[in-house]
Amino acid sequence: MTQYRIAPSILSADFARLGEEVRNVVAAGADIIHFDVMDNHYVPNLTIGPLVCEAIRPHVQVPIDVHLMVKPVDRIIPDFAKAGANIITFHPEASDHVDRSLQLIRDHGCKAGLVFNPATPLSYLEHVMDKIDIILIMSVNPGFGGQSFIPHALKKIADARRLIDESGRDIMLEVDGGIKIENIAAAAAAGADTFVAGSAIFGKPDYKAVIDAMRANLAK
Ligand code: DX5
Ligand code: ZN
Repeated sequence: MTQYRIAPSILSADFARLGEEVRNVVAAGADIIHFDVMDNHYVPNLTIGPLVCEAIRPHVQVPIDVHLMVKPVDRIIPDFAKAGANIITFHPEASDHVDRSLQLIRDHGCKAGLVFNPATPLSYLEHVMDKIDIILIMSVNPGFGGQSFIPHALKKIADARRLIDESGRDIMLEVDGGIKIENIAAAAAAGADTFVAGSAIFGKPDYKAVIDAMRANLAK
């Protein structure tokens, strides 16, 4: 049976109370904390860096999943590894040397993966599959929380699932953007096993009610 993981994105959390927010969302059943890093260069928004990752690290035992929306990629990787990241993903268009960036993440003891924007082809995976621990399919264009799910992402998820199955490797398949109680099952049916949700969880007063409802729809 597929092990499903819910990964709340702290982009929609209350940053004035971040420690409490991550503790509460883990207590509510989060499996992973999704940490969105934006640089106002690769994407038109500016968020949080290694200092904030280090600050929340003692508050949670679950993995911290750092989604880098930055260019260049490499020089920030060691800092996030030292700050307690467990998973680091980046957008292949943002790296001059995709194989080197993946290796750098692994050399720092983290799981490594590539992120695919709605218009980015999965062909970036072709020669690096042996260095991939996680594939992240964007179901919105990156940069902001609260956007609507782009339905074409379902086909992309299914294509990525096929590539993972063919590889025979244990690779997580994560989807990010516009995931809600209502559409999580469709993403799972397409082949995703890890679900990022920002506004759907942090936008509601009862995190556990949302996460429980997501899990109930995954179990159907
Ligand atoms: C968008 C980020 C997402 C975002 C998801 O660039 O990568 O992780 O926080 O937010 P929602 O779930 O609100 O679409
Ligand atoms: Zn993200």
